[in-house]
Amino acid sequence: MNIDKIKNKLRNYNQEHVLKWWEQLGDIQRKELLQDIESIDFELMGKLVNQYIGRKEISISFDDIKSPEIIKIPGAESEILRQKEAREIGEQCIRNGKAACFVVAGGQGTRLGFEGPKGAYPIGPIFGSSIFQFHAEKILKAQQKYNARLMWYIMTSKPLHEQTIEFFEDNKYFGMNKDQVRFFSQRMLPAIDKHGKFLMSSKHEISKSPDGHGGALFALRDSGAIDEMQKMGIEYISYFQIDNLIVKVLDPVFIGNHLKAGAQMSNKVTPKITPSEKVGAVVIMDKKYAVIEYSDLPKEHMSDKDKDGSLKFNAGSIAIHILNTEFAKSLTEEGMKLPYHIAEKNIPYVDNSGEHIKPKDKNGIKFETFIFDALKFAENVINMEVIRKDEFSPIKSLRGADSVESGRQLYINRCARWLMEAGLNIPFDKKGNVKIKIEISPLFANSPDDLQRKNLSPIDTTEDIYLVLKIRNFK
Ligand code: UD1
Repeated sequence: MNIDKIKNKLRNYNQEHVLKWWEQLGDIQRKELLQDIESIDFELMGKLVNQYIGRKEISISFDDIKSPEIIKIPGAESEILRQKEAREIGEQCIRNGKAACFVVAGGQGTRLGFEGPKGAYPIGPIFGSSIFQFHAEKILKAQQKYNARLMWYIMTSKPLHEQTIEFFEDNKYFGMNKDQVRFFSQRMLPAIDKHGKFLMSSKHEISKSPDGHGGALFALRDSGAIDEMQKMGIEYISYFQIDNLIVKVLDPVFIGNHLKAGAQMSNKVTPKITPSEKVGAVVIMDKKYAVIEYSDLPKEHMSDKDKDGSLKFNAGSIAIHILNTEFAKSLTEEGMKLPYHIAEKNIPYVDNSGEHIKPKDKNGIKFETFIFDALKFAENVINMEVIRKDEFSPIKSLRGADSVESGRQLYINRCARWLMEAGLNIPFDKKGNVKIKIEISPLFANSPDDLQRKNLSPIDTTEDIYLVLKIRNFK
């Protein structure tokens, strides 16, 4: 596109200010700015600006919402049998290479006080293994167990893409085969000010941010990943977030239940700890499954009850899904089907006089799509309850709730429970936390069963325990 065409386009969409400093820019900066402009989907941005400017208060009719049907944690013998059956179906599916792992890792480690991808954070309590390493080893372990070649798809965002690949290169893909790992980045969308104008992060750069994890759908399509999956016979995508250290990256029971129900998309849920917990709630809305995000649930409705007296918004979404490959593909065939959410943020920008401003208040708007909005397009959905302490340790910040500190402790506590099931005696404090540090490489053991097959009796449980393929802690 030549400069006149670009000027025209900008004029049509009311964004001419983007070239305000054109005369002051050097050749390289001009080139970068033009590339930046050319990469923008103006038609989409035009719609989003109008959506923002003409926005109305969305009123959700909370009274019409119902709590979802849930496959509960099995208790009765018949439920245990059903779970066994689901496990067998899921295991067969994994063995046949029909399932792949997919992690959304577009978020930055900033809230962890860490420069770089969140997945590179050294979370291991003793040796500081990274979050990526934990997930990679879980995939490797599953690969051994099911004797299948498993693919791992990793969605990054533009600012983190090269760093993420470098991290894998530097760590030799944690033992995975390089051609089993695919990286692709999600789209970036311009941020706008309250008048609908693109914010500039410098005189030649438009401020952009990742398009939300719903952007995974475009990213899977644009990178060719979906086509590749279909060629490889991968029918099911096991979706998880990078920040959940103890997630089961491929859960045969979940996959089996999903298959048995002929579902297109499924959710793992766990009862919320408190009605105000910062997790989305899976519900039925307009006869379809949906997730009401915690930020959209007003305080006065948090404790609403169903007719049977149970809490309506209690099915906490832990952001683990199975999506059928075909279903994921269908959601982008005629453009993005998912709605764009508006998030008001403090976004640094260059003002009219060219000064860099770090706003104290919310000055800008970002647009994001959420993967769970795909639920309403699915004909069948299952919601499977899981035991929180076994599968959910979100790491959102450095300290406090859902932090590095709490996530690490939840992980250590789970390791301890596994070791105790294998016959060891582990010291706990009064709060129910383990007194020593433990790190078990998923390659050594990724379930209590894996540990029970090993001879652990020589381990001294008064000292920190680190279990890798060679047991280093043996006396
Ligand atoms: C998210 C869910 C919430 C769920 C909770 C469980 C949303 C909007 N909400 O909350 O319903 O109960 O996790 O922990 O997601 N990501 C990208 N690209 C993006 C945006 C996010 O890859 O453009 C990834 C992040 O790397 C992270 C995940 O998505 O792994 C979640 O994003 P985050 O913003 O941390 O969502 P939460 O508010 O924690």
